[in-house]
Amino acid sequence: MAIEFSERIGRIPVYPAAGGYGEHETLALLASNESPFAPLPAVREAIERAMATLNRYPDPSNSLLRATLGERYEVPPARIAIGNGSVDLLLAAGEALLEPGAELVYAWPSFSMYPHLAAASGARAVTVGLDERERHDLPAMLAQITVATRLVIVCNPNNPTSTALPLAEIAAFIDEVPAHVCVILDEAYCEFNLLEDPDASIDLLQSHPNLVLLRTFSKVHGLCGLRVGFALCGSEALPRALDQVRQPFFCNALAQAAAVEALAHQDEVLDRVTRTVAERISVDERLRAMGLSPAESQANFCWVGLGADRDEQAIMGGLRERGILVRGGSSLGSPTPALRVTYGLPEENRRFLDALEELL
Ligand SMILES: Cc1ncc(COP(=O)(O)O)c(C=O)c1O
Repeated sequence: MAIEFSERIGRIPVYPAAGGYGEHETLALLASNESPFAPLPAVREAIERAMATLNRYPDPSNSLLRATLGERYEVPPARIAIGNGSVDLLLAAGEALLEPGAELVYAWPSFSMYPHLAAASGARAVTVGLDERERHDLPAMLAQITVATRLVIVCNPNNPTSTALPLAEIAAFIDEVPAHVCVILDEAYCEFNLLEDPDASIDLLQSHPNLVLLRTFSKVHGLCGLRVGFALCGSEALPRALDQVRQPFFCNALAQAAAVEALAHQDEVLDRVTRTVAERISVDERLRAMGLSPAESQANFCWVGLGADRDEQAIMGGLRERGILVRGGSSLGSPTPALRVTYGLPEENRRFLDALEELL
C-alpha cells in the first residue's frame, strides 16, 4: 500500500530545479542565476577556520553575522533575520503570516517559490500579470489587496523577467498598502540593478514597520552552495515570528563565517557587478543583432522571447546537446516561448550565443 500523505502535499508544486549537477566540467551552467566567480580566497580561509569547531552547533542567534550586517546596512540587529538561503525566510514568512482564508498577492511570472507559500499554508494566491515591459504592474497589484490580504511580494529586479521598477514607484506603492499587511521586497538581485543605489530601499524601513527587504549571499557574493540569506525588517516582530516557526539551527556555522567575511570585501562585489554588467551589455547587443528583443535586464540574467512560432523545447534541447544549460520560459510561467539565461563568463556567453544563433 502506498504511504498516505497530507492533503497539502497534493497542492505544493515541485520546484522546477535546473539540471546539470555533477557534470560541471564541460557544461556552461547558465540556468540558475549563480555567480560564475568562485568564492574569494579570504572567504575560503574563513570557512577553513570555522571547520575547526564543527563539533559545536552553530550560533543559533547568528549574532556576529547580524551585528556585521547591522553595521553594513545601518539596521539594528534585532530587525535582521538570517535564513538558510533567502528561500528559507520566504517559506518561514509564509508559515508565520498565512493560513486558510488569508490571501497573498504577487506578480506572475515571478520567482517560482512564491506559489509554494499559498500551497503550503492553504491561503489563496492572487497573481497579477506583468505590464507590457515585463515589469510589475503595481497599480493592478494594489487593486487586488483586500481585507484578507496578509502578504504582498514584489520582486525587484524580477526573476525570471530581469526587469526592475524605479524605487520611487515601489515606495509610492508601499505607502498605499495597509500598515498591517506585510510587504516583502525580494531584492535577491539588487546589486546588479543600475537604476538604483542598492542601499536606497533601506531608508524605506524607517517609515514602514511592515516592510521586509529580502537579500541573499547566493548571487553577487557567489555563496549559493552554502545557503545563507537575510531579511532587513521594518520592525522586530517579523524576525521574532520567523524564528518561532523554524528549527533553531537553520544557518550552519560555515555559512555564518563565510557571510561575515564576504561583507568585508565590498570592493570585490563592485568589481563582480561591473564584470557582469559588461557581459550583460554585450550579450544583449548580440541577441538584438539576431533579431530578438531581450527584456531590459537589471539583473545577472537575461529574459528573451523567442517568438510565438519557435519551439522552446527544441532550442533548449539543442543548447543542452551543445553543453549549455539555460531555463525555458514555459517552466517559469511564460505563456510564450522564452529563455532565461544567466550571464556567465565571457567564454560561456560566447558559446551560448554561437549555439543559439545556429539553432535559430
Ligand atoms: C527572486 C529570488 N529570490 C530569492 C532567491 C533565493 O535565493 P537563496 O535561497 O539562494 O538565497 C532567488 C534564487 O534564485 C531568487 O531568484
